[in-house]
Amino acid sequence: MTQKFGVTQVRVEALRQRETERFERARPKSAQLTARAHPRMARGVPMAWMSSLYEHQPVWVESGAGKWILDVDGHRYLDFNLADSSVFTGHARPEITEAVAARLALGAQFLQPTEDALVVAGELARRFALPSWQFTASATNAVSEALRVARGATGRNLVVLFDGHYHGHADETQAIRAVDGAAVPQWAGILPGHVSGITFAVFNDIESVDLLLRTGRVAAVLTEPAMTNHQGVILPSPNFHSDLRRATREHGTLLLLDETHTQMAGPGGLTGRWNLDPDMVILGKSIGGGVPVGAYGMRSELATFMETDGWGATGGTLFANALQMAACRAVLVEVLLDDVYDNAARLGARLADGIDVVSIEAGLPWRAHRLFNRSGYCFSGTQPTNAAEARTQLHPSLWALLRVYGGNRGVWEAIEGSGPAAGIDHTEADVDHYLHTLRSLVHELVS
Ligand SMILES: Cc1ncc(COP(=O)(O)O)c(C=O)c1O
Repeated sequence: MTQKFGVTQVRVEALRQRETERFERARPKSAQLTARAHPRMARGVPMAWMSSLYEHQPVWVESGAGKWILDVDGHRYLDFNLADSSVFTGHARPEITEAVAARLALGAQFLQPTEDALVVAGELARRFALPSWQFTASATNAVSEALRVARGATGRNLVVLFDGHYHGHADETQAIRAVDGAAVPQWAGILPGHVSGITFAVFNDIESVDLLLRTGRVAAVLTEPAMTNHQGVILPSPNFHSDLRRATREHGTLLLLDETHTQMAGPGGLTGRWNLDPDMVILGKSIGGGVPVGAYGMRSELATFMETDGWGATGGTLFANALQMAACRAVLVEVLLDDVYDNAARLGARLADGIDVVSIEAGLPWRAHRLFNRSGYCFSGTQPTNAAEARTQLHPSLWALLRVYGGNRGVWEAIEGSGPAAGIDHTEADVDHYLHTLRSLVHELVS
């Protein structure tokens, strides 16, 4: 029988069908809500992307508390997805809830600054060693503005992205690399002109970057310090970041690090953990503790540009509002304190060690991805160094099985192409519960 990554497709399909039926049978209220929603909302959800995150029907939520999610059918899940890295703080964290409630009572939206912004900018400056910060309503918005600033400040048009990137859903970053290396729109509705300022290099291949930078037309290289949006984690090779910094400096190109996901690695994200030296850092997701927010920090030269011509790069009526700033202050000053990251990283390593052990014991080639609090599945066992290699890890039906199997046993698995991650409320026992569920699935897959 044909096998892929050590398991037969027939067995994967049989288990997936059994588990999906069980999953959907046990969630009649979610099914009813989705059916009711269909005429009102495309794909039965308030944002169509939600329905494509999982193969099973949408699961409607009642509430969340810490590491737990409760659905409308009364099922409780240990959350290892953290809403795709956007609630590292856990759900309904009291300090954040109280700060947000207090701010709402005092007014949430003025289009005028509140003092919380000063505290938040100061704290981010300390963590990321960049002096000046701006705020938006999402990381997507922050990326858009950061790219405008980079182009405005350098007077150049092009931006280098790495194949396999994801930096949000602004038109220009919804570009993918075609076989011939050109940037093409990823979705209907995005014009070739929208992505005409994008050019692609290959992660971990400094020559491919150098080649583009030598044209003297590149305003910025935008990358995650470790890629997290393409079938798990793609780690930088040992010299990649120092080479990237050298090459960008040499050619007058700005280096923008998007730490929207990797911020969970440490108080200053991977910038801090790995002592990186970017010109700008982009943040979002977890720094709002569930309140939508984005941020970007920059060197003083870029801040000077913003003082004069560059201010026009910014703007959103609801950006940097009082509610966002109150949430961020509570997150950064009261909740995501320096030491919580180490504990989450320890649990992430426990997840990764456990995935390796379960796989080895079962004779499977699978090995774990490792990135501080975050793990994942490298099904072939060979860690990818770029997106093309990562694409060879694709096994959508196996991923769908992992997800429903966990769901039926109280584990909320990461979205496809991502990986389970520990938040600040998780314990060793939670990780062990995850691994126990995995072991039981693997046993069924290989026996
Ligand atoms: C690295 C990175 N940047 C930016 C974004 C966009 O974040 P948002 O969807 O919150 O705007 C994401 C979303 O997953 C991301 O992974």
